[in-house]
Amino acid sequence: MRLSIILILNIVLSISQGCNKTSETYLKESENKTISPIYIHWGTKYNTLRGVTITWLSSGSEDSIKWGYSESFEIGKYAAKPRGDYKKYLYDYTFPQLTPLSQIYYAIKSGMGWSKNRLFKTSSDTSSENFSFIAGSDCHGGDDDHNSDSRWKLMSELIVKENSDFYLFTGDVVDDNDDWALWESYYKSGQNLIENKIIFYGWGNHEYGHIALHNTTLPGNEKWYSFSQGNALFISLLTEEDFDIQYQWLLDQLRTTEKEWIIVYFHRPFFTRGSHKDEMNDHRSTWWKAFDDYGVDIVMSGHTHSYIRSKPLNLNVSHTSAVEEYGSNPGQGRMSFVLAGLGGKNSRASKDWFAAKAYSGLHYVKFNINDNQLHFDTYSQGGILIDSLSIRSGNLD
Ligand SMILES: [Fe+2]
Repeated sequence: MRLSIILILNIVLSISQGCNKTSETYLKESENKTISPIYIHWGTKYNTLRGVTITWLSSGSEDSIKWGYSESFEIGKYAAKPRGDYKKYLYDYTFPQLTPLSQIYYAIKSGMGWSKNRLFKTSSDTSSENFSFIAGSDCHGGDDDHNSDSRWKLMSELIVKENSDFYLFTGDVVDDNDDWALWESYYKSGQNLIENKIIFYGWGNHEYGHIALHNTTLPGNEKWYSFSQGNALFISLLTEEDFDIQYQWLLDQLRTTEKEWIIVYFHRPFFTRGSHKDEMNDHRSTWWKAFDDYGVDIVMSGHTHSYIRSKPLNLNVSHTSAVEEYGSNPGQGRMSFVLAGLGGKNSRASKDWFAAKAYSGLHYVKFNINDNQLHFDTYSQGGILIDSLSIRSGNLD
């Protein structure tokens, strides 16, 4: 009987998803865990408290969720929404506005019954001007040749302990845009982090495509977007296509914001070393000029697998040397990061004219913004501090 059910499920999954790797891998999981769900992950349509969405994969045909701020699940029980592209096997539930710094108790009902009771901790208030976030990139889930999964597991276990308000990944979280099995590797190896934290993705060349866009939740059109936290505006851009459309949208974002801090992130870096060093040169006169004209504070990328923190850069002043100070005033410069240290194979670090600090090895950066001060600490895989700095915003009111 059990075998028959599994065979029927396998056929249905193969037809509905058109991807044998997906169904085979999923059914292997189902046999071991009769109570789904699996690959629980969190995203948001607006910010860390509004539009927060939980997504999971299960064997159920009509999944639901019950939740509350206590173990009695007092808020209620709600039907989950199946994802169109995954038929009935990938489910979403979007929470109403959440209470900051609280614990959500929840359980998910799928085909086999209710899951174990689970916990999710909400972020600081989105109006708070004192918050933290972690930035990293290039987990490269499923890249067996370079042990990326074990490296990603190591780094995800390290960064979840930081317990930041949210996490920003600047692309290449998996190795191939066409293979769901790689997302399974990414979710499994990073489970403790992914099941417990909201991650904002800026898509990279390796995973940008249908699967990435259809199993995650992000603000805006999910390809490029912005969101606010406290006195900071975060802008995510896409370095794979649609540069002109994004440029107009970027100008609009920069012209209209009144936020004290502006942080922009995307995958391909403007300032890096090695084979990727010229990939964004065509966009210096548009995107980067906008960063300089409107005083973007922090620019973050991935792609090159080593750490680079730039000197203050302002191409309105010079293309060959740094300016004296970081800051958003005319004549001050952007702090640019290459942050590809969460799992992909390391590449050699070297100090070009624009680099204030370079490092070859796994790494992540923890940022704290507190009113008009921004502080960051960069740690290696051993938890060793490799770079650190504090800056003040130009608006000292
Ligand atoms: Fe990349």
